[in-house]
Amino acid sequence: MLTALKGNILEALSPDILGVHPNSYLVLEDGRVAGIHTVLPKSMGEAAVTDFGGALILQSFADMHLHGPQYEITGTGMDKPLLQWLEAYAFPTEAKYADADYARKQYRILAHDLIQNGTTRVAMFSSLHTDATLILMEELEKAGVTGYVGKVNMDRNAPPYLCETTEESEKETLRWLEACKRFTLVKPILTPRFAPSCSDRLLSFLGKLKAERNLPVQSHLSENTGEIALVAQLFPDCPQYWEVYDKYGLFDRNTLMAHCVHSDARERTAMRMRDVHPVHCASSNNSLMSGISPVAQMLREEQAVCLGSDVSGGTTLSMLRTMANSISSSKDRGSMMQDQSQAISIEQAYYMATGAGQRFLGHGVGFAEGEPLHAVVLDDTGLPKLPNITFRERLLRAVYRLDDRHIRAVYSEGLRRL
Ligand code: GUN
Ligand code: FE
Repeated sequence: MLTALKGNILEALSPDILGVHPNSYLVLEDGRVAGIHTVLPKSMGEAAVTDFGGALILQSFADMHLHGPQYEITGTGMDKPLLQWLEAYAFPTEAKYADADYARKQYRILAHDLIQNGTTRVAMFSSLHTDATLILMEELEKAGVTGYVGKVNMDRNAPPYLCETTEESEKETLRWLEACKRFTLVKPILTPRFAPSCSDRLLSFLGKLKAERNLPVQSHLSENTGEIALVAQLFPDCPQYWEVYDKYGLFDRNTLMAHCVHSDARERTAMRMRDVHPVHCASSNNSLMSGISPVAQMLREEQAVCLGSDVSGGTTLSMLRTMANSISSSKDRGSMMQDQSQAISIEQAYYMATGAGQRFLGHGVGFAEGEPLHAVVLDDTGLPKLPNITFRERLLRAVYRLDDRHIRAVYSEGLRRL
């Protein structure tokens, strides 16, 4: 069946190229993108058109780093640096997800709120609990949120109430992977929490599993100076943090590494050579006072940087806020260094919030033809009508000024979900 969305269509085609299609038709065949046209071709004349008037039709957002069980404490506990914050707030909250009924209730809210905010693709950490992780995957899939979810592995440097033995971690990971076969839109991703919370044996097990089953991996890298010092102490044979993951085969093109705030030129080169995807988490880097990431530099080096809300180190699930925070923090870095080239553009922010994640998840960029539609309709028509405003300026203004109340529609996998 032919359908079409009409409005001002903006595509993130690369970190530097915004594709602009004013007042155009995004044509779908059975929910898959069939093309973008300024006038509906005769052959498509019978398409049922949903007219969004002057609104902006954007790719929906890909939040490539967040912690599902932490959502409930978003915006609280912002008074400690990473390692103390984990002990005081994150770990006690995650422990609640041993209770499957509680997990169901909370994860249903999270899935709903993701769609409400226009996020249809994720790479998400669950907790170490296998059953709650499966519940999270179910709730996301039901709501139309696609992507990756990982059962967290952590067998040391964690409180007794949130720690597995190595054997349990291995056995539960296998049980979880087996149970994941029933999902179609949400897939498993191996998730060693970060180097300090995994023994050598567990990392080695996960590396072998990755190789045997060709699984993706997500973890944290060089987020905070206290964390980096701890890694150096725990893995004295590894000159740099990334070498811990690399040693165990957990550092290659199918890998997301959150933060990378303190990654120096050598660590960044290693990421680029292995096509590891850094995930920039500006809000969390600010809240936990981790530092200001050199994200503009990473983009200049052609790193495949994605954006993550990092809820609840980050203070918002909204990828609009996350883009705005990324732009602001890059400018703070520029101010501090007296170097304007540290600032990122709206094109870069939009691409990192959409296309970079799409690529990691195996999709084309922009509204890729033949792929099921993932889109968000953002209505900026209530803002002042400035005569000479360009579409790139409208997008920047929308990012700064709009929120979920201005999202008129969300499409995921070709279906309207909001
Ligand atoms: N490093 C290890 N665990 C976490 C976490 O839950 N949040 C953040 N921001 N960093 C981490
Ligand atoms: Fe995180």
